[in-house]
Amino acid sequence: MSILITGSAGFIGYHLTKKILKKNIKVIGTDNINNYYDIKLKKDRIQQLKKNKKFIFYKVDLSEYKKLNNVIKKHKIKYIVHLAAQAGVRYSILNPKTYFKSNLEGFFNILEISRINKIKHLIFASTSSVYGNTDKLPLKETHRTDHPLTFYAATKKSNEVMAHSYSHIYKLPCTGVRFFTVYGPLGRPDMALYKFTNNIIKNKSVELYNNGNHLRDFTYIDDIVDGVFSLIKKYPKKSVPYDIYNIGNGSPKKLLEYLKHIEKNLKRNSKIKKLPLQPGDIIKTHSDIKKLKDSTGYKPKTNINIGIRKFIDWYKEYYNIT
Ligand SMILES: NC(=O)c1ccc[n+]([C@@H]2O[C@H](COP(=O)([O-])OP(=O)(O)OC[C@H]3O[C@@H](n4cnc5c(N)ncnc54)[C@H](O)[C@@H]3O)[C@@H](O)[C@H]2O)c1
Repeated sequence: MSILITGSAGFIGYHLTKKILKKNIKVIGTDNINNYYDIKLKKDRIQQLKKNKKFIFYKVDLSEYKKLNNVIKKHKIKYIVHLAAQAGVRYSILNPKTYFKSNLEGFFNILEISRINKIKHLIFASTSSVYGNTDKLPLKETHRTDHPLTFYAATKKSNEVMAHSYSHIYKLPCTGVRFFTVYGPLGRPDMALYKFTNNIIKNKSVELYNNGNHLRDFTYIDDIVDGVFSLIKKYPKKSVPYDIYNIGNGSPKKLLEYLKHIEKNLKRNSKIKKLPLQPGDIIKTHSDIKKLKDSTGYKPKTNINIGIRKFIDWYKEYYNIT
């Protein structure tokens, strides 16, 4: 068996690939290695993964249908975990077209390729952002998701409905996974943990939107990866073979508390610059993870105390900080 992971040079793709390789399963990875953030981090992730002979990497964009299709045929792929996308909520405010290209056109190619190659299970990344702003917490898979606050969220919601139609008409088994604020070693430079750590170390101020009152269901990368892995062989078998799962931690924390953990671990204080709520920001996320628990026995194992320490240990080593 071999699994295709799109976005394998990305944060989640790297960690998921590593986990699957450890199980002695072959992984074919694809990514366009775009420069949304420092490509050194993406290249280093791929270099790490290439140390394992069971990993094969192709630099390919989601728009390159033929090239992608050839990869799938060559390696007789039957399982796809689709993580490649233009991520980031705020970036979508100024750059909606990038999201249209990668997340809508790109996703359409993945659906078509999956249909034509009779893929046994397509798992694709969605997001907690599809829930928009609501006071109905914790967020359950059955809650309304038709009022996205950003174009990023709109593209991910669109992926869910596009996949549903392919499951309905072509019986393509699809599972969407809604990730809740993922963090951990080799994490994304555009996300809070990285930015806060970087700014504290460089003695710059930390910008706290909504005065630090955002509530986030921070989820450690290993828990996310365990959740996705447990679903690969669990393809939906209903007459419309389609499913959606939250993958979160289930225990939200205030952004200000998250920052305090970073300061404690770095043994440094931050200079805080409090900023108002930004357009498109969601105030609270809190996942209800009962569905995944009942279905796979999922149990998040890492709290923010340990998770942040692991990130900071990695950050210091990677950037040579004493
Ligand atoms: N990290 C989070 O907190 C989080 C939360 C919710 C959802 N997600 C989703 O999970 C997935 C993985 O996120 P991540 O945090 O690892 O992000 P990431 O940006 O680190 O990884 C995405 C990868 O996809 C690649 N990519 C982007 N557009 C592409 C294209 N057109 N063709 C080929 N490759 C392309 C990028 O180069 C990148 O390496 C994304 O779909 C993201 O939207 C992430």
